[in-house]
Amino acid sequence: MFDLIVKGGTLPDGRVADIAISGNLIAAIEPQITADARDVIDASGDLVAPPFVDPHFHMDATLSYGTPRVNASGTLLEGISLWGELRDIATVDEMIERALRYCDWAVSMGILAIRSHVDTTPDHLNTVTAMLEVRDRVSEYLDLQLVAFPQDGLYRTPTGRENLIRALDMGVDVVGGIPHFERRMQDGADSLADLCQIAADRGLMVDIHCDETDDPMSRHIETLAYETQRHGLGGRVAGSHLTSMHSMDNYYVSKLLPLIAEAGIAAIPNPIINIVLQGRHDTFPKRRGLTRVREMQAHGITVGWGQDCVLDPWYSLGTADMLDVAFMGMHVAQMTHPDEMARCFTMVTETNAQIIGLSDYGLKPGAQASLVVLDAGDPIEALRLRPARLAVVSKGKIVARSARGDAELAIPGRANHVRRRVRP
Ligand code: FE2
Repeated sequence: MFDLIVKGGTLPDGRVADIAISGNLIAAIEPQITADARDVIDASGDLVAPPFVDPHFHMDATLSYGTPRVNASGTLLEGISLWGELRDIATVDEMIERALRYCDWAVSMGILAIRSHVDTTPDHLNTVTAMLEVRDRVSEYLDLQLVAFPQDGLYRTPTGRENLIRALDMGVDVVGGIPHFERRMQDGADSLADLCQIAADRGLMVDIHCDETDDPMSRHIETLAYETQRHGLGGRVAGSHLTSMHSMDNYYVSKLLPLIAEAGIAAIPNPIINIVLQGRHDTFPKRRGLTRVREMQAHGITVGWGQDCVLDPWYSLGTADMLDVAFMGMHVAQMTHPDEMARCFTMVTETNAQIIGLSDYGLKPGAQASLVVLDAGDPIEALRLRPARLAVVSKGKIVARSARGDAELAIPGRANHVRRRVRP
């Protein structure tokens, strides 16, 4: 007797299978499972995927749009200064309430793991207190990983470094940084040496907001690759954004990509936010500001897609849907070959899980029983429609259900059922 069987779903690789769940683990995946179960989800004709993973988010700022005012210029820098005001007036309780509201929403969209950067700049560290509480409160159904993020720079404020260390001591999981925002290029490079040393000493992962600028001379990723290799941190370091690479000289990039690959650094572009924030100082032609995704992948570099922002000082919209993120990335990076579209789906599931170091993830016996049933026939159709998450299962329990997205026409004489799906 199993606890739950998800019957007849199509897996991302095209296999049709039943998935049996015992407790919080996947017990079996077979073409047909005839044993009984306490609960059954009929997924025939629907896509059953491992859960979505968001490897880059800012949960301390989410759902705060318009407080204390909107970002008039739409730039990264105005967003940072706006957030600088907000983080000192927001209470711990308010931040917890917004974050929990966002987590509910994310779970309903099939996101079951999030890496969130937490601003460690203010001496009160209310952001850290609030997010640690949220991490505890959601842990039964959502894996929340926190990054100590010195938003205003490790060295640019008097207590930047000290507060980052305090946050790690309080239990924050990952070391963050923002080298392009330090006062000088050299300070940025020094900050990376310092942060990688801290991570190596403490056995932690690293995730750097790296070169989030249109300045082609912002080359901190080169230093991050060097420090990653020097400290033997390969496989534990991610470079988020890397937007300057969009504008870099091609000859330099031809040297840079093998260095990133050799160091074992993963890349996390955030296409919705990058397309909105970058190129703001350009007239025409206007740069897209997305890093070189296909080119990195061709060099064997692991690349995921992150969401970054929902309704906050940097972004006035947002859907908590990793399919929207992949959809935007697919368009801006022109990844429209069927293999590339399918890869975009893998990027927001398995690749993101690998980048943030999730163990026991995936649709395989023995893995954690977490999955999402989508109203789509396959991963490419899921990207095209960004359809309803019919059921979301987290650690063996059904945590969300949604209705299908079909429509009934009400045009006189043409009362038809409109099905958005074509497959299968
Ligand atoms: Fe970010």
